[in-house]
Amino acid sequence: MTEQRIALVTGANRGIGFEVCRQLGRRGYRVLLTSRDPKKGQAATRILSAEALAVDFFPLDITAEESVAAAEQFVRKCYGRLDVLINNAGIYLKDDRSISTLSIDILRQTLETNTFGALRTCQAFLPLMKKHHYGRIVNVSSTMGQHARMRNISAAYRLSKDALNALTQMLANSIQTNDILVNACCPGWVRTEMGGKSAPRTVEQGADTIVWLATLPSGGPTGRFFQDRKEINW
Ligand SMILES: NC(=O)c1ccc[n+]([C@@H]2O[C@H](COP(=O)([O-])OP(=O)(O)OC[C@H]3O[C@@H](n4cnc5c(N)ncnc54)[C@H](OP(=O)(O)O)[C@@H]3O)[C@@H](O)[C@H]2O)c1
Repeated sequence: MTEQRIALVTGANRGIGFEVCRQLGRRGYRVLLTSRDPKKGQAATRILSAEALAVDFFPLDITAEESVAAAEQFVRKCYGRLDVLINNAGIYLKDDRSISTLSIDILRQTLETNTFGALRTCQAFLPLMKKHHYGRIVNVSSTMGQHARMRNISAAYRLSKDALNALTQMLANSIQTNDILVNACCPGWVRTEMGGKSAPRTVEQGADTIVWLATLPSGGPTGRFFQDRKEINW
């Protein structure tokens, strides 16, 4: 394959997603940096373009069907392919609490972004990947969604990431013939707006396993869950 690979990253105007764009750009990928806020996304794209990286911008709110459809049309028209999809966009709402008192509205909003949003983009872009017999999908999850270690705090976030893990497995199992690998990973506790200032990891460290999964060679793992490039339990 001599053509430049195309990667799309959701929620990439800041935090881990922004760093993933930078690292993929440095590896020679053409990156479509997406953000629900066009101004923030354009500003982030300008920073990476100034670093001589091949980065384009497109507005994308993963909770909106028409926004995902518009992004898919843009990708098909401008590049004709999509090699890498990083489902990074995520929310962790303030009033997320114990399951017994959790507001259904908080759960609904959290699932809408962290789970349905990621599924929506997978469903939108898989046909393009299948057409070209190549794809790497990375669902940015969390050990807080690990079924084996489920705890009763931040219930909405945990449920959303547990469901994201489950859909990762289902999707991977549904695609066996093409060179399309679908995995989930946890970036660890990272210093971002979501992770807060006390988090021990840098965005560079948080992005590492995501980029590793995005650039897996053919025959690499699929339908698995990783942290620090090592498989972990669901
Ligand atoms: N930081 C950690 O310690 C940690 C740990 C485990 C897992 N993770 C996961 O890592 C991913 C990135 O987290 P982060 O720490 O970089 O968080 P962050 O700094 O809060 O960034 C989240 C990004 O998602 C975007 N986003 C939210 N809703 C969206 C929507 N509907 N459509 C498109 N974009 C949307 C945000 O856009 P706006 O700027 O417009 O809000 C922002 O760009 C998330 O999936 C998170 O769950 C993070």
